[in-house]
Amino acid sequence: MKILITGSSGQLGQALQKALRHHELFAADRRELDIRNLDAARSLLDRFSADWIVNAAAYNFVDRAESEPEAAEAVNSSGAANLARAAAERKAALVHVSTDYVFDGLSARPYVESDEPHPLSVYGWSKLKGEREAAAGNPRHLIVRTAWLFSAAGHNFAKTILGLGLKGDVRVVSDQVGCPTYVPHLAEAIAGLMERGAQGLYHLAGSGQASWYEFARTLFEEMEIPSKVTPIASSDYPQAAKRPKFSVLASARQPEVRLPAWQEGVRAFARELQDRKERFQP
Ligand SMILES: NC(=O)c1ccc[n+]([C@@H]2O[C@H](COP(=O)([O-])OP(=O)(O)OC[C@H]3O[C@@H](n4cnc5c(N)ncnc54)[C@H](OP(=O)(O)O)[C@@H]3O)[C@@H](O)[C@H]2O)c1
Repeated sequence: MKILITGSSGQLGQALQKALRHHELFAADRRELDIRNLDAARSLLDRFSADWIVNAAAYNFVDRAESEPEAAEAVNSSGAANLARAAAERKAALVHVSTDYVFDGLSARPYVESDEPHPLSVYGWSKLKGEREAAAGNPRHLIVRTAWLFSAAGHNFAKTILGLGLKGDVRVVSDQVGCPTYVPHLAEAIAGLMERGAQGLYHLAGSGQASWYEFARTLFEEMEIPSKVTPIASSDYPQAAKRPKFSVLASARQPEVRLPAWQEGVRAFARELQDRKERFQP
């Protein structure tokens, strides 16, 4: 397959290049393709006639989005629309990635694909609109909702909290529960779905569930960091954007696609960091 990956220097963009390495790839970072520009997308597809576009580009600043909604929408909504359209014009399929933050967190059970989204934040709305643009703009779409990404590459909660833990004790929110997801596990699962031509909406996140506090404790244990982790309430850590209290994702799609348990992701992440220890700069 010929595959164009957008946002290729992000966490998922990098992992997808590894997971899809047996295919013919064009990895485009923001300089090579700004997804806000429809003509740029068209012209890149004229040069590289992809069968698939995988959109790993996104505006991910959840709190900043509250004060700059246009910036979030330009990438997460209009950008998705541009890629859906450019791909559809060339009969290519689109993989688009979305988030657990499309849900309000009021459910008493994990969210499946048929549950009604109701975002609490500008970021969540911009991602939900992006899903809708991707689906409306291209009949050949695969939309993957995921959550709480962490990997040795890029910026994420896991690396930030480890960096803080190396300096001293930390306080971490314990009343938001979700699915920590190790990015290489997600990339492998997306590659598997593409290779079997899957379409429609899928929830793909690390199996099990955890609060940010439990996630941090497990990271510290695995990395043998002795600092203390203290649980706090969201109200003790005010943030501009409201987050869902419970955004655990499950999938009702058949055949079932399950990612490894998030704790397995933490172990793989710790091994990856140890392998590149001299380069670990949280
Ligand atoms: N991170 C999470 O915890 C999380 C949770 C749920 C869902 N997701 C979703 O998962 C997907 C992958 O996330 P990630 O964590 O891999 O993101 P990431 O590491 O923040 O990478 C996003 C990439 O998109 C690029 N980008 C931003 N604006 C662009 C534009 N206009 N045109 C082209 N590229 C642009 C960024 O480039 P620059 O670095 O040059 O800005 C960056 O390389 C996203 O759809 C995200 O919304 C993420």
